[in-house]
Amino acid sequence: MSAIVLERLSKTFPGGKEAVKEISLSLEQGEVFGFLGPNGAGKTTTVKLLNGMLTPTLGTCSVLGLSPAREPEKVHAVSGVLTEHAQMYDNMTGFENLLFYAGIFGIPEEEGKKRAVSLLEELELNEAADWKLAAYSTGMRQRLSLARALIHRPKVLFLDEPTSGLDPESAQRVNGLIRNLAGKQGTTVFLCTHQLRYAQEICTRYGLIDEGSLLAAGTQEELRAKVDAGAELRIRAGNIPEEMKCIEYVEGEKGKGDYGSVLCMKIRSEEEIPQIVRSIVGAGGDIYEVEVKRPALEDIYFSLTEKKKEGQL
Ligand SMILES: Nc1ncnc2c1ncn2[C@@H]1O[C@H](COP(=O)(O)OP(=O)(O)OP(=O)(O)O)[C@@H](O)[C@H]1O
Ligand SMILES: [Mg+2]
Repeated sequence: MSAIVLERLSKTFPGGKEAVKEISLSLEQGEVFGFLGPNGAGKTTTVKLLNGMLTPTLGTCSVLGLSPAREPEKVHAVSGVLTEHAQMYDNMTGFENLLFYAGIFGIPEEEGKKRAVSLLEELELNEAADWKLAAYSTGMRQRLSLARALIHRPKVLFLDEPTSGLDPESAQRVNGLIRNLAGKQGTTVFLCTHQLRYAQEICTRYGLIDEGSLLAAGTQEELRAKVDAGAELRIRAGNIPEEMKCIEYVEGEKGKGDYGSVLCMKIRSEEEIPQIVRSIVGAGGDIYEVEVKRPALEDIYFSLTEKKKEGQL
């Protein structure tokens, strides 16, 4: 069974705003799916539809075969959600907040305490466990919200901008935790973010949303193929044959102590590399280094949104 399914899912708000337009997607269990898009694209609305906080105008969605609109309490029992503005209690400590939510999920008190302690530790909040939430910084609140979302060991986790208020070190820690959840426990993660660099570290597949529509979905490799970006091959070599110098030719960087010159060219697939290397060696060239530079998720994202603007998608 797929973990999350969206079928022509659509949401038009009462004022007429079409926030989500006929999105179809299917996520397997254990996937870390990066849902990427600019401000106002419809990411949070989609998460709210998947959690039963909003009902679709058209289309359907399911989480582990359950309908968020018809049986939200069943969906909540198997899923955890970290929203942009998580509601927690300022006059209770971090530890008490977690115990409170453990109680709501029917976790026995002793088990709830153990779970809370271990999550506080994992998210580096043990020192602040007994502070009232009012004294928490934004990043600490963010991490406590994540602990809250995980308290009942959900099989599906919805994360709306989980690293937005975090410093790079905490963001890395949260990323590590997410990777672990998916890798070791098979948790499915639906992650909304603008932080493409962090997304690239943990996501196994992506969906790009803009103005409510899904522009593209797939692995980084699949998305790269859609934008036709190819990769850049850089070969540092000595005695590069004269006939190859017609391709973008860059002199070796002086003062670096590297031998030879750098030959740069665009390639469409890795299969082209052996032939290029053979032709340099065959013509008496000396190869010191071969490097393939693939476009980052950010480059792909901008190419796809650009294509959309130009009406090519
Ligand atoms: N309750 C609402 N009533 C009317 N319009 C809404 C409502 N909630 C969201 N919208 C609109 O729907 C669109 C999508 O909003 P949404 O919050 O889903 O975007 P987002 O992708 O999460 O953006 P961000 O990156 O800024 O969080 C926006 O144009 C927003 O103004
Ligand atoms: Mg949002």
